[in-house]
Order: sequence, then C-alpha cells, then structure tokens
Amino acid sequence: MKIIKVKDIQALNKKAAYLVASQIIEKPNCVLGLATGSTPIGTYQELIKLYNDDIIDFKEVITFNLDEYIGLPNTNPQSYAWFMNRHLFDFINISDNNVHIPNGMAEDIGKECMEYEDQIKKVGGIDLQVMGIGRNGHIGFNEPDVMFENLTHVVELDEQTILDNSRFFNSLEDVPKRAISMGIKTIMNARKILLLATGEKKTEIVHEMIYGRISSNVPATVLQLHPNVIVLVDEAAGKLIKEG
Ligand code: PGA
Repeated sequence: MKIIKVKDIQALNKKAAYLVASQIIEKPNCVLGLATGSTPIGTYQELIKLYNDDIIDFKEVITFNLDEYIGLPNTNPQSYAWFMNRHLFDFINISDNNVHIPNGMAEDIGKECMEYEDQIKKVGGIDLQVMGIGRNGHIGFNEPDVMFENLTHVVELDEQTILDNSRFFNSLEDVPKRAISMGIKTIMNARKILLLATGEKKTEIVHEMIYGRISSNVPATVLQLHPNVIVLVDEAAGKLIKEG
C-alpha cells in the first residue's frame, strides 16, 4: 500500500480529486468505482471545479457505486442515488447511461446483484475504486465477518453502521437494515484503489487496516493483499501510520 498523508481535509480533497482526474485524463472512458458517505463529498466538489475549469471531461466516463440501501427509491433524499446526483452527477457532463448504482427497489434483488456484477465485467472492470472506511473496518457495506469471496450481494447492516448512518435519518428506526453492496472480491478486482480517511474517529481503524492481521473481522485489512492501493489520509486519521 502506498500511504500519503496530508495536512487537513482541504488538502486531502484536492489531492484525491487530482488522483481521480489523472485517471480520467489518462483514460477518458475509464471506469470509476464511487462511494457515498461524508468523506468523498469534498473530493467530488474539487472534481466539479476541475470539470468547470475544463481540465477533465466526464463525457465518456463510466461509474459504478459501491452500494445502495434496499427499500429506498432513488427519489428518496437518503438514497445513495440521490446523494450522487446532489454531490456530483448534477454538476458534470456524465451520461445517465454510464452511471450505475444498485437498484435497491428491484423486485428480484438477487438478480439485480448478479446483473450489477455482469455490467462491471462487460465494461472491462473498474479502473479506479474510490472509497472510505467505516469505523468498524467496513468497505462498501462489507461488514465484519464478511466472506472475502463475495461479489455484489445483499448485506445486513452492522449495528455500528446503522448507528453511524442514523445521523442522516429522522430516527434510528428509519435507517434501512439491508443494502446491496459490491463484495470484497468486486472491490479487490478493481485495478487501483484510492482509500480516503479523515479525522480522529478513523485513526485506529486506519492503523489496523494497514498493520493489523488480515481478517474478515476487519474487512479493510484485505486491502493489504491488493497490489495497487493508495491510502490518502489527513494528519488526524494518519496519526499512527507512516508515510511511504
Ligand atoms: P464516512 O463513511 O465517509 O461517512 O465516514 C465511510 C464508510 O462508512 O465507508
């Protein structure tokens, strides 16, 4: 893993956006894996700036999001489809046909998972997967004790995750308990991974992801086995790790 530490969130957002931008410049029809959560919002803002400055063009870019709640239509402001429109897609020239987010309202969820995986394969796989990390070490919605062999599948959300995400809902009861998520294997199949983490809440889990024993109890430790991972952290999240 390559570890890059920057001073603060602003610096992280810029650097992350530049890394994504260089992928788009190098391969204008690249396949990006994208994430929701608080962490990538600033990166998306910086990408919008680069788009407005004519430095990058999303015309041919293809995207696949990591996950989506089951039971929320894309018109629900808590859905990840809504999140992506509000934070990125509404502001760039990406084609609707090139945007992929699992459909949490699909009648046959199992089929939806399989088709999602097929679509990723059909475009040649993910070039660059951007993602955050949960405090319990989840990546996407792959919660502790996940199977590393999983492709896109249905997950029961961990209590900690439901609690962490309840800040976006009116009440704890409103947080969906299930989601569709790319599996660990889907994520590991990406040619390159950019993992972002900021703030003191992530200090310990970032340390464990990098130096801990590889274990399904901490799903992100599997990234130690990936040949091309950049871990980009601010000073707070990177307090216990060494750059290099
Ligand atoms: P966060 O979530 O960006 O809101 O901290 C990260 C994650 O749960 O993967």
